[in-house]
Amino acid sequence: MRLLGTVLKQIHKPAVYSTHRRRLSSRATGGPSPLRVEAPVVGSNRELVLSLGLQVEVRTGFITEEEEAALLQELEPGLRRKRYEFDHWDDTRKQYFLVPVNEDNRRVKVTGRLDQAIHGYRETERVTWGAACEEILTRVRSAAFPEGSSLLGPVHVLDLDKAGYIKPHIDSVKFCGSTIAGLSLLSDSIMRLVKEDDSSEWLDLLLSRRSLYILRDQARYQYTHEILKDEESVFNGQKVPRQRRISVICRNLPG
Ligand code: OGA
Ligand code: MN
Repeated sequence: MRLLGTVLKQIHKPAVYSTHRRRLSSRATGGPSPLRVEAPVVGSNRELVLSLGLQVEVRTGFITEEEEAALLQELEPGLRRKRYEFDHWDDTRKQYFLVPVNEDNRRVKVTGRLDQAIHGYRETERVTWGAACEEILTRVRSAAFPEGSSLLGPVHVLDLDKAGYIKPHIDSVKFCGSTIAGLSLLSDSIMRLVKEDDSSEWLDLLLSRRSLYILRDQARYQYTHEILKDEESVFNGQKVPRQRRISVICRNLPG
C-alpha cells in the first residue's frame, strides 16, 4: 500500500501551492537557505492542497540562527544524558495508527507520546524555560493558538537521530487538542500527511531548519503525519538530506 503510494507519487507530478504569502525569511538573518523551493507544501492534487492547505502552515525562517542556538543551549545538556532509542516492531501500519497498541491490540496507556511510532529518538518535556527561549515560545503560541486557549503545560522536545524517523500516526485525541505547532532545529525534513481512510490523498510539507509548522483540525485528526527517514527524504523531486533533527512542539488541550 505504502509502496504503491510512493510509486504513484513519483508518477504524478504533484500540484504546488503555498499556504501563505511568501516571506523572504525575514527573521532568519544570514545562513544559506538550505533549499530553493517555490512553496513548502505540495500534494496529491490541487484541490487537496487548496482545502487542507488552510489547516496547514509552514513558516519558513520562523526563528533566527541566534534563537535556534539559544534553544539548543538550553536543551542539549539534558538530551545528551539520554540515549537514542531504536525500537523494533512489525511494519504494519495499524499497529501504531492513532495511538500505540500493545500485543493484544489494546491501546497502551500513553503519557502523551507514541513511542512505537518513533524510531531513533530521545525526548524530554520542559515546563520552565530561560527568558530567551520563553520569548520564542510565546511567539510560537501566539502564531498557533487563539488567545486564551488552554495549552498542554510542558513543551515536548523530540530529538531524532540522523537515522531516526517518525512513522505515520495521529496524536492521541485524549491528550492533545486540535492544534500541533512545532519548530524544527538542526535539519530540514519532510513531514508527510496521509488521509486516514484514503492513502491517495496526501500532502508533503518541507520543514526547513528553523521553520515552524502548524497542523490544525482535519489535518491533525483525519490525516496521519510522519517525518520521513533520510533515504526517503525527497520533496517535490528534490533530495532533502536529513541530519539529526530536534523538534520543539506545543500542543493545546482537548476541548
Ligand atoms: C509527535 C510528532 C513531529 C515532530 O511527537 O507526535 O509527530 O515534528 N512529532 O517531531
Ligand atoms: Mn505526532
